[in-house]
Amino acid sequence: MNGLGYDTRAGVAAGIDRALADPEIKAIVIAGAGRMFSAGADIREFNTPKAKAEPTLNSLISIIESSDKPVIAAIGGGCMGGGLELAMGCHFRIAANEASIALPEVKLGILPGAGGTQRLPRAVGLEAALNMIVSGTSVRASQLAGTALFDELVEGDPLPAALSLARKVAQENRTRKRLRDLTIDDPNAEAFLQFARNTVGAASKGYPAPLKCVEAVAAAVTQPFEEGKRIERELFAQLMRTPESRALRHAFFAERTAARIPGIADDAPARQIRRVAVIGAGTMGGGIAMNFVSAGLPVTILETKQGALDKGLATIRRNYESSVKRGKLDANAAQRNMALLSPTLDFEQLADSDLVIEAVFEDMEVKQDVFRRLDRVAKPGAILASNTSTLDLDRIAATTERAQDVIGMHFFSPANVMKLLEVVRGAKTADDVLITVMRLAKTIGKTAVVSGVCDGFIGNRMLEQYLRQAMFLIEEGASPAQIDRALERFGMAMGPFRMSDLAGNDVGWFIRKRRYVEKPDIIYSRIADRLCELGRFGQKTEIGWYRYQPGRRDALPDPAVDALIADYRNEKGLVPRRIGDDEIIERCIFALVNEGAQLLDEGIALRASDIDVVYLAGYGFPRYRGGPMFHADTVGLYNVVRAMHRFENSGHGDPGFWRPAPLLAKLSAENKSFNG
Ligand SMILES: NC(=O)c1ccc[n+]([C@@H]2O[C@H](COP(=O)([O-])OP(=O)(O)OC[C@H]3O[C@@H](n4cnc5c(N)ncnc54)[C@H](O)[C@@H]3O)[C@@H](O)[C@H]2O)c1
Repeated sequence: MNGLGYDTRAGVAAGIDRALADPEIKAIVIAGAGRMFSAGADIREFNTPKAKAEPTLNSLISIIESSDKPVIAAIGGGCMGGGLELAMGCHFRIAANEASIALPEVKLGILPGAGGTQRLPRAVGLEAALNMIVSGTSVRASQLAGTALFDELVEGDPLPAALSLARKVAQENRTRKRLRDLTIDDPNAEAFLQFARNTVGAASKGYPAPLKCVEAVAAAVTQPFEEGKRIERELFAQLMRTPESRALRHAFFAERTAARIPGIADDAPARQIRRVAVIGAGTMGGGIAMNFVSAGLPVTILETKQGALDKGLATIRRNYESSVKRGKLDANAAQRNMALLSPTLDFEQLADSDLVIEAVFEDMEVKQDVFRRLDRVAKPGAILASNTSTLDLDRIAATTERAQDVIGMHFFSPANVMKLLEVVRGAKTADDVLITVMRLAKTIGKTAVVSGVCDGFIGNRMLEQYLRQAMFLIEEGASPAQIDRALERFGMAMGPFRMSDLAGNDVGWFIRKRRYVEKPDIIYSRIADRLCELGRFGQKTEIGWYRYQPGRRDALPDPAVDALIADYRNEKGLVPRRIGDDEIIERCIFALVNEGAQLLDEGIALRASDIDVVYLAGYGFPRYRGGPMFHADTVGLYNVVRAMHRFENSGHGDPGFWRPAPLLAKLSAENKSFNG
């Protein structure tokens, strides 16, 4: 990655000094070791003394830019963030056509703070620079051909061309070009910046960085270089201190950390996965299969009846066709993906698969039967995975003679779209099986988090408490729309009732009915059952907590639901009270936190940050709040616990739930936080 940590910065400065001191050297080329030029700042140094240790990136860029001998950047692979800022401090740049170029700082809630917002608009023009800086996305170097960013673009390794340019500039004694000396001639600059402020402001609610990026770029247009740099530094420092930036950096690290499993080396050998099989071509099976064929892996897909198989395949084909129509996929790729699918009704056809994922009905007996058959046909060493959402994986594994090869792969619906994958580690799951699935998750573009076996795993077990509070709040006087609005204002992508309507209210009903029998002590509001008894399953039936027009997803208020709620309250003798949005947010979000702490206590989740990743990747929790556990840390665990005592004493809902989980009580008493 050639991250620009202290050692690298000091090393580059020392190299420049050596070259400047050596009369034999006429020009200097900076290239990355390996393929990559530099992925940018070493963000592990953030908030450590090393980040500020000289030479800082700013000092290093000054050393390069003011060097008497010409400095040429040879840019291969990627050139991102601080790496691009450093390259823009050089006098000449040669890049590989394929190199990816980006200033991704905005994704961490900050902005490029080493001249990037000042030099990039001078190099590529206002509009292109602003788009790159505000979005943080990367572009191919070839897309920036013809701009002042590159002196030459080459196929493959840029080093030979950089060396030959170095000789030429030295021989010809060419003047050193500095991007800072360019001016931005854009007659529409003012209008464009105003447009950008409006659109960026509207599109980035909750995120302060994008608008500050616009301000920094505006300074490049309206101010002399040095003044622009000063403004950039100031905006950078402001952003660095925001809770949003802290949350985004936490999220970034949390995602990387989730891939590591304590006690298993990062480079531990994994099993080879060349061929995958999926059992069940329903809602989940089809989506799961799409993930693998999209990544180029052949998939055998098995059903019990030809009709179900045809239907499943037709859905997959329709999904790919719609991606082609929307311009997200080219028609050849869609065809190639379909060709990688082998439909079958014959279990024997699974014999050569390295990984088999079961996605049949959520029924223990059906699943156990599938695993018994799998045990007979799967080749030795094949990984046998279940997509169960609620069933005990260890009981499924116990039907085989190879429990060490059994694992849970809990995909979320729609499985071809949702990023989250909960990887469920059974009591006997082998380490290499776990590591194989974690790496495979990356191959298919999923964010994987390890969970222990329990009812609902990490995400849904916490969600149950969140939804339980939402239902209590209705009993007590809030409306579904008020609750949704409050939580959406907090930043949730969708409030609980809109979400339930989308997922299907019958899914929760089915699970609750089982719980009423298995765990009769849990206190539930029965209001959602009433809704389901009327067939109000949500979007699929066009009525749920809201009503829907055919083919549309807008949630419209429905007086029938208000009447249903009023009747329910009357019947139960509940007198509605006025409930503030703050109480709604605290009760729903702290319910997640308390259950999360419980999961940590039980060892189901490995780390608080893993829980955050689950909620960010799978449940629409606002990234700028870093996840429920990080949010609790930000609020302060002392304050969270105090609020919970308040709820316990209020006597509403299920007061017993609000006794803080032991870990939460302990951390709060010790003045500590979940995330260290
Ligand atoms: N739907 C979701 O949101 C969701 C999310 C995560 C996990 N899950 C889990 O995924 C699994 C499948 O759920 P779904 O929503 O796709 O159900 P579904 O009813 O849409 O699909 C199940 C498919 O399995 C097939 N099937 C049943 N028994 C079979 C057998 N013995 N051999 C081969 N095929 C068989 C059925 O014909 C059906 O097509 C369940 O365990 C469910 O809990 C579902």
